[in-house]
Amino acid sequence: MTRVLITGGAGFIGSHYVHHALTTHDDWQVTVLDKLTYAGNPANLEDLEGHPRYRFVRGDIASRGDVDAALEGGIDCLFNFAAETHVDRSIGDAEGFIRTDVYGTYTLLEAARAREVKAFVQISTDEVYGSVAQGRSRETDALMPRNPYSASKAAADRLAYSYFATYGLPVFISRASNNYGPRQYPEKVIPLFVTNALEDQPLPLYGDGQNVRDWLYVTDHCEALDVVLLKGTPGEVYNIGGGNERRNIEITELILDTLRKPRALLRYVQDRLGHDRRYALDCSKIRALGWTPRTPFEQGIDRTISWYASNRSWWQPIKTGEYLEYYRKHYRL
Ligand code: NAD
Ligand code: TYD
Repeated sequence: MTRVLITGGAGFIGSHYVHHALTTHDDWQVTVLDKLTYAGNPANLEDLEGHPRYRFVRGDIASRGDVDAALEGGIDCLFNFAAETHVDRSIGDAEGFIRTDVYGTYTLLEAARAREVKAFVQISTDEVYGSVAQGRSRETDALMPRNPYSASKAAADRLAYSYFATYGLPVFISRASNNYGPRQYPEKVIPLFVTNALEDQPLPLYGDGQNVRDWLYVTDHCEALDVVLLKGTPGEVYNIGGGNERRNIEITELILDTLRKPRALLRYVQDRLGHDRRYALDCSKIRALGWTPRTPFEQGIDRTISWYASNRSWWQPIKTGEYLEYYRKHYRL
């Protein structure tokens, strides 16, 4: 059995990777370590209760005691998905991002080093390159993060690399573009806009709506991470992009049209501070290892919209309490 720790497994991408791992790798014993912050949701993993190769540990990656408890019984391989992930929240208050994304990664690296793990996969992001006016970022490009979220992820990315260069820890670093799909917390733009549209609420589009993101369907990301682990080289970075660059206005109109909602629901609002204009990745390195994204954007967005339309019981309880407080304060609605 290969003993695998997946941190942040109750979140959006982490929960998809946990399901993918258990169905794809028969010989993996999976432990999830998750603090269950506002973004972590036990419902994302509830169908796995009682699974013989799955264990859930509630804990903080920034606590060495919690990490050691999760690693009891040994460890071969670690995927670090756990993070504070929302750019807007990082602009409001960066502290939790430094604590989890930077110090938490340090804590995991130390624990991994003490146990001589065979692979440490650090889930980084294309946002570490900063805004890219033209062309596509390559793995060797300089990092130029421009908000507290991306800066804390860049720190973790390079800290992980330093454990490879200094101690020989087998670290693999992935930098994926914007993910979308079922179970994404409805503060990120696609689930926010889909759920708002379903409730006939305004869709708050920042600035001029011309910012560009490259959309990657979440299960394609999971497949790419297997390629990084199984075919990648320790110490290397791998870009993972969907090859679907879209302007935010296009996505907004597509969501409204698909749900047959009026364009009048579109509401231009004040721009995000320091809003990165465009992210774009050159993915030739991981494509050379045999990975390619399989989900065309039109198919992925259709599947995503249908999922939110038929899983109101997943997102309606989230859009209450703390969420509404954040929403009203942030959007001044
Ligand atoms: P998410 O916000 O949906 O989930 C984060 C998970 O981490 C939650 O389950 C939360 O409870 C857990 N967590 C937070 N702090 C923790 C702590 N201190 N200890 C233990 N668990 C903690 O995030 P996501 O969108 O699934 O992103 C997962 C990873 O992928 C992150 O590292 C993120 O930076 C990276 N990433 C995300 C995207 C994207 O588009 N969502 C793109 C590229 C990279
Ligand atoms: P988001 O989903 O927060 O991801 P990220 O900032 O990490 O790329 O935002 C995606 C894009 O959508 C980004 O350009 C900001 C924009 N956006 C809006 O226009 N309105 C919103 O309410 C949100 C949350 C994002």
